[in-house]
Amino acid sequence: SLPLSQRLLGRIRDVPDFPQEGIVFKDITPLLADPGAFSDLVDALADLAVRQGATAVAGLEARGFILAAPVALKAGLGFVPVRKAGKLPGPTLAQSYALEYGTAEIEVQRDAFAPGSRVLVVDDVLATGGTLEASIRLIRDAGAQVVAVGLLMELGFLGGRDRLHPTLDGVPMEAVITL
Ligand code: PRP
Ligand code: MG
Repeated sequence: SLPLSQRLLGRIRDVPDFPQEGIVFKDITPLLADPGAFSDLVDALADLAVRQGATAVAGLEARGFILAAPVALKAGLGFVPVRKAGKLPGPTLAQSYALEYGTAEIEVQRDAFAPGSRVLVVDDVLATGGTLEASIRLIRDAGAQVVAVGLLMELGFLGGRDRLHPTLDGVPMEAVITL
């Protein structure tokens, strides 16, 4: 049988020129629709949580939510949403980050993490690293320690890992699939 990364890659669909021309969108819906593949992915990320001694799992809206919630339950941990600005009742903390065009803002509730929390951050895809960089800063602003980053897929050719290197500062970041 194929290694996990190959099996999961076979359930991700490339969609050229979506959501705009020149972008190849990674559509994970076929993976989510396959309970065996979805479950194996959740197990791999939950294993990372356990190995790093995480005490909470943070998911990044929107696609990160889909993965992070079952990972949290599988690892026996609580789930914390990192949301696009304006969605969470206050008091909140915010971080802005650059998009290809314009800027975006994300938020977390100020009291989201118990003192001493050790957080696994989960998202679907690492591209430029802007989303993760802002999320890691936000979680640290909220007083928690980021102990690992778990991803379905890393698009290595976009240089996100290099960009995140100083921010991660030794925190392990694992992707089930690296392209
Ligand atoms: C996508 C993807 C990652 C992010 C990666 O989210 O789900 O979160 O982009 O890009 P980056 O590394 O360049 O920051 P997006 O905000 O586009 O949409 P979503 O709400 O569907 O997750
Ligand atoms: Mg996203």
